[in-house]
Amino acid sequence: MQPPLSLQWPSEEATERFARRLARLPQLANAFITLHGDLGAGKTTLVRHLLRALGVTGRIKSPTYAVVEPYQAGGLAIWHFDFYRFSDPREWEDAGFRDIFASPGLKLAEWPKNAEKCLPDADLELEIHVEDDDNRRVTLRAATPLGHALLSELAPPCANP
Ligand SMILES: Nc1ncnc2c1ncn2[C@@H]1O[C@H](COP(=O)(O)OP(=O)(O)OP(=O)(O)O)[C@@H](O)[C@H]1O
Ligand SMILES: [Mg+2]
Repeated sequence: MQPPLSLQWPSEEATERFARRLARLPQLANAFITLHGDLGAGKTTLVRHLLRALGVTGRIKSPTYAVVEPYQAGGLAIWHFDFYRFSDPREWEDAGFRDIFASPGLKLAEWPKNAEKCLPDADLELEIHVEDDDNRRVTLRAATPLGHALLSELAPPCANP
């Protein structure tokens, strides 16, 4: 079991660099990652950089109203959820979210606590804290073998000798 990984993103460029590193990891193709943090912390910003790094070229909208936006990049299926306005668990079945989580692909979810009774366990939980201005402190926690594989790739070398 790895301890949580703590990172600093001093600017949006640092967030983008992290997104590029994450995009290179093959385990990402079947990962479920939850994104925690206050309004405006940078969850959607990270997702946008990650989708671009994965090769998504079209418009990237925040899915606050639609709850989910689907993407395809290089044969990879990606779903970006935002459960900020999610309150009715019946919507889970009606909107086909169960089928999405049963399918292969990358799933990213903002405000997962609003759907925690429906959502499966995340592989990786990423929490963003606003420090000041553009500076973000980020904590990554793995909860599954896949999440641990991702986390060990993201940890700086020699951090845990
Ligand atoms: N280091 C950074 N990483 C990410 N975003 C940053 C950073 N520095 C500044 N920002 C800015 O912070 C804002 C983050 O907004 P964003 O929509 O990504 O937040 P969010 O966490 O998705 O909020 P919400 O809960 O409302 O969906 C953006 O305007 C972004 O440019
Ligand atoms: Mg957002």
